[in-house]
Amino acid sequence: MTVHIVPAPAVLVEQPAPPLLLGAGTRLLTCEAGLPAATLLAEVLARSTGRALEVEVTDAVTAVPGALRLELDTDLPVPAPGAAGHAPGLAARAEEAYRLDVDSAGLLLRARGPLGLARGVATVRQLVELGGHGARIPAVQVEDAPHHGWRGLSVDVARHFVGPAVLESVIDLMWLYKLDVLHLHLTDDQGWRLDLPSRPELVARSSGSAVDGDPGGAFTARTWADLVAYAADRGVVVVPEIDVPGHVNAALHACGDLVPGGEPTPEYHGIEVGFSQLTAGLPATSAFLRDVFTDLAHLTPGPYLHVGGDEVLTMAHEEYADLVGQAAAAVRAADKLVVGWQEVATTSPAPGTVVQVWDLRQDPAPLAAAVQGGALVLMSPATRAYLDLKYDPTTPLGLDWAGHVEVHDAYDWEPATVLPGVPGRAVVGVEAAVFTETLRTRDDLMWMLLPRLPALAEVGWTSPDTRDWDDFRRRLAWHPALWAADGNAWHPSPQIDWVG
Ligand code: ACM
Repeated sequence: MTVHIVPAPAVLVEQPAPPLLLGAGTRLLTCEAGLPAATLLAEVLARSTGRALEVEVTDAVTAVPGALRLELDTDLPVPAPGAAGHAPGLAARAEEAYRLDVDSAGLLLRARGPLGLARGVATVRQLVELGGHGARIPAVQVEDAPHHGWRGLSVDVARHFVGPAVLESVIDLMWLYKLDVLHLHLTDDQGWRLDLPSRPELVARSSGSAVDGDPGGAFTARTWADLVAYAADRGVVVVPEIDVPGHVNAALHACGDLVPGGEPTPEYHGIEVGFSQLTAGLPATSAFLRDVFTDLAHLTPGPYLHVGGDEVLTMAHEEYADLVGQAAAAVRAADKLVVGWQEVATTSPAPGTVVQVWDLRQDPAPLAAAVQGGALVLMSPATRAYLDLKYDPTTPLGLDWAGHVEVHDAYDWEPATVLPGVPGRAVVGVEAAVFTETLRTRDDLMWMLLPRLPALAEVGWTSPDTRDWDDFRRRLAWHPALWAADGNAWHPSPQIDWVG
């Protein structure tokens, strides 16, 4: 039997022993706190075996021959230290740690809390094998914990809208690869995708549009809350972005008082960037910033809100810094932490602000100064982490403004050392990003994410001391069966010798 877990765990011992066989009588036992993870496991097994497994909740999870047991152990040892940086508000490393022991006598998954159990169940999903005689799980011992704390994926739902069903599939994929932050780019020139109670005109006027005149869409408070809860059940925190003070044509189309002269701008269906902006001198602008970020905070249980801040090409720096400062102040006043794209480093951001690096061509000096001032750094360099870039010149979808990103490019780098002027202790982790100018459907999206998202997931989760491209290639080669089981499209990169 072969084991091919992605991302690679800290410690994996394959035991030379018979596997655990799953049958009609297999029992699944857990305590109350383990119920969400056990429910995930029951779903996984139902999908692979076609047999529903009932979760038995009990105070005393005792060994029962052949059973699957999920247990809390508040003293569980955590393997070797992870990266130096940490994002306040995200789970501590120990909360994501888990230990898994499987042999023919049973499966025991232990963690300090529910989050670690959810991570461990993702590993179990990758271990279940289907043979002629039913499902089985190889005899293994796994001890695991993440290297980086922030392991994100940013999805642009503004250029093209994909609704809750597609995003649930994306969250399933994130869970499978132990990612923990879903960043949603909710607003841009082409559309506004979240209904905010204080500003109903934003979705009323600006949610129906998208790139190329394609249909738009938006989240209601209810569909948004459901999505955030679905993510939370899988150990994924949602970080919503309202992009200001540029990328705002959808707002200017909905609210004429944000435009000098008072006339709403036309809808925009193209893919140029940098032309739209808020105006600091207009009386409506400050109220708009305060209202949208206050509403967003009320709709967001997670600790972070993203203020955008990228690519404002039409504005003097003083006005830019003023508007970014107002947005960040509104976020902090609502008791949330601030994330902004790389350009916000030029505004002397407050200590603790997370600055998301995306363009390694930008002058690194403001970033280094911001870090000196206490800012933190999230790494999404386009040349490694932008999964809307083409794989190679023949890729029919995607963009190529920063070149091509093949699986090896996505894999072979380390967030803590990619920028020499930024010390590792300031780097909170890594985030993949997928902008959707050319991506319309679930298949388009999945085809760009797979197989590069698992590569970035391993960059985030697995220690650089353990990571190895050739080993990763061999493990990833087995994963299309998992993607097919979920109905996910994927790109057969020639860099991997795919199995089957
Ligand atoms: C960006 O790609 N403009 C963040």
